[in-house]
Amino acid sequence: MITTIRGTRFHYIDQGEGIPVLWIHGYPLSSALFAEQLSIRGVRHLVPDLPGFGESDSAGIASIEEYARALLSILDGIPLRKVVVAGLSMGGYVALTIARIAPERISALVLIDTKETADSPDAKRVRYDTAEQVRANGTRPVIDSMLPKLLSESSSHDPLLVSRTITIMESASAEGVVDALKVMAERPDSSSVLSSLAIPVLIAVGEHDAITPPSEAGRMLGLARNARLLVVPKAGHLSILEQPEAFNEAFVDFLRTELDADVSA
Ligand code: MLT
Repeated sequence: MITTIRGTRFHYIDQGEGIPVLWIHGYPLSSALFAEQLSIRGVRHLVPDLPGFGESDSAGIASIEEYARALLSILDGIPLRKVVVAGLSMGGYVALTIARIAPERISALVLIDTKETADSPDAKRVRYDTAEQVRANGTRPVIDSMLPKLLSESSSHDPLLVSRTITIMESASAEGVVDALKVMAERPDSSSVLSSLAIPVLIAVGEHDAITPPSEAGRMLGLARNARLLVVPKAGHLSILEQPEAFNEAFVDFLRTELDADVSA
C-alpha cells in the first residue's frame, strides 16, 4: 500500500486479518525484515518502510518522534486506533517513542534486539562521522560494516540469509540513512517510559546479538512491570529473520495468553 503524509509517499504492507500488529524495522533495513512473520495467522500485519528506507520516500526526518508520528498518521489513515507495536532495534526506539507520546494507541509492546538507553557521547560521535561518510560515499560502507554485526556466526554461513540481508540494506537511500543516524544519536533515554508501562511487554533477543546483547534485554526486563523475556537460540541481531520459528511461536503464545488473541504460527 502507498499513502501520502504531508507530501511524502510511504509504503507499507497491510496483510492478514485479526489482531493488528505494527512491525517497525531497524537500521538500515526495511519492511522486508519481517517477511517470516507475515505467515502468522489471526494477525493484521502492518509493516511500514520508515522514510528513506525500502520503498518509502525520504522526508527529512529530524527526530525519533517524527518517525513515531509518521507511523501514527498511517494508523489514523487506515483507520486503526489501538495496535500491538513490535520494533526491532531502531524500530524498538520508535516503539518506545510511540509508548511515550501515544500510550493509548498500544495494546502490547514487543521489543526485539533493542535497548531503552540513549547513545553515549562516543556512540553519538561515531554516528555523526558515519553520516559524513554516507553523504560523501553513499551507503556501501554502512552495508559492509553492518553485515558482520547483524547475523550470528552460524547465520553468516547461510548464503541465502546473507544475500537477503544485503538486498534489504541496499534498498535504503543515503538520505534515509543519514537521517536515521542523526535521529538515533539524539534520541532520549526511554527507561522511564518502559518502567511506566502497565501493558504486556515481550522482550526478545538473539542469543548472539552483537549490537544489543542479551544483557541489554535483561536490564529492560528488570525495568518493565509486566514483561517476559525470549532469548532466541542461534540468532544474532536479526533474530526474527534468522530463527523465525522460535520467535513466531513465542510471539503467538504471548498474544494468546496476554491478549486472548486467536492466533497461530
Ligand atoms: C539497528 O539495527 O536498528 C541499529 O543497529 C540500532 C543502532 O545502531 O543503535
